[in-house]
Amino acid sequence: MRFEKTKTNKLFTANADGTARSDPRVVRETVYVTEKNISFAIAPMIDWTDRHCRYFHRVMTKRALLYTEMIVADAVIHGDRERLLGDATAGPVALQLGGSDPDKLAEAARIGTGFGYREINLNVGCPSDRVQSGTFGACLMREPALVGQLVEAMKRAVDVPVTVKCRLGVDDQDTGPALDDLARAAWNGGADGLWVHARKAWLEGLSPRENREIPPLDYARVGRLKAENPNRFIGLNGGLQNLDHALEALNQCGAVLDGAMLGRAAYQSPALLREADGMFFAERRPPLSFDEIIGEMAEYADRHIAAGGRLHHVTRHMIGLFQGVPGARQWRQTLSGEAVRPDAAADILRKAYLHLRDHAAPAAASGLLAVRTG
Ligand SMILES: Cc1cc2nc3c(=O)[nH]c(=O)nc-3n(C[C@H](O)[C@H](O)[C@H](O)COP(=O)(O)O)c2cc1C
Repeated sequence: MRFEKTKTNKLFTANADGTARSDPRVVRETVYVTEKNISFAIAPMIDWTDRHCRYFHRVMTKRALLYTEMIVADAVIHGDRERLLGDATAGPVALQLGGSDPDKLAEAARIGTGFGYREINLNVGCPSDRVQSGTFGACLMREPALVGQLVEAMKRAVDVPVTVKCRLGVDDQDTGPALDDLARAAWNGGADGLWVHARKAWLEGLSPRENREIPPLDYARVGRLKAENPNRFIGLNGGLQNLDHALEALNQCGAVLDGAMLGRAAYQSPALLREADGMFFAERRPPLSFDEIIGEMAEYADRHIAAGGRLHHVTRHMIGLFQGVPGARQWRQTLSGEAVRPDAAADILRKAYLHLRDHAAPAAASGLLAVRTG
């Protein structure tokens, strides 16, 4: 992979009084020329990557692989399928399943592909108590042979790719053999790819949240796995802060990995997704302007409300959109206040944006907001 810097845009920064000034630095628009296909994915996140979130992310990136929240196989089989799986999102979306029963996972995978999901992913990384009591998620790091059987059962049931998302190991496991054994079992079962959250999960004593922060990241370990399995798809997840960092990390693991998966950074600073298609997929189309993003999301919210939903279901995922832009605070306040009321209409979203664009950040609007270059 090599990088080429091609274009520059002016950057506007906020003064202390909220006005904007032109910044002597420039925003370099970087075109990444990749010598191999690099995938870009947004991680499965329970309660976050629901259908409304995925719709929002899809507005900004047409090419990223979006993951659902983890859904347990039993829920898919016995629950309200339309509510759990019915999906308004176009483009590549992967369904992440949790479970440890081969027949149930196979059945859930089959049902999922009937709803149009383009990949089925098995969760071997989630450390919550609920998951541990069901013997799935990160606990499966201790049972590579079972993981192989689960993958094999799902592969027999569907003809879309089946992948696994795992950790480096759990508790006192040695991440050398633990990850090798898990990967080997997954490949033997027929897995088409492995996403590795590049840290251990400590099942005793840490909350799920702490388990995303405290065990140290080890990208080099994932790089070694790739070096030993050059023909397998191995993607990197964990602690990637933005797109530049993701590309750098993929390149600096010792072996070039096949994909980057962003979780919290993509959710909390979603505007970065505007650049993803250009950087990862050499898409020439310029990033969508914020006018266009808000326009599409407000229309989507209109439709959702007309169908009996609430504005907040949609806007709760948009709170971080203007991170770092003057007026972002008021934007956040409106979206977590007025927009939460049961009778809130999509015009609240339109007005909050117009206020930010035309009053709070008028000069910035010409730089950061209305970027539509190329
Ligand atoms: C709110 C939240 C919910 C999550 N739910 C899931 C899940 O359902 N399945 C899963 O495999 N990982 C889940 N994760 C972990 C993420 O997929 C990802 O592996 C982790 O956040 C590390 O990536 P990041 O540093 O880019 O956020 C969740 C993370 C968060 C923050």
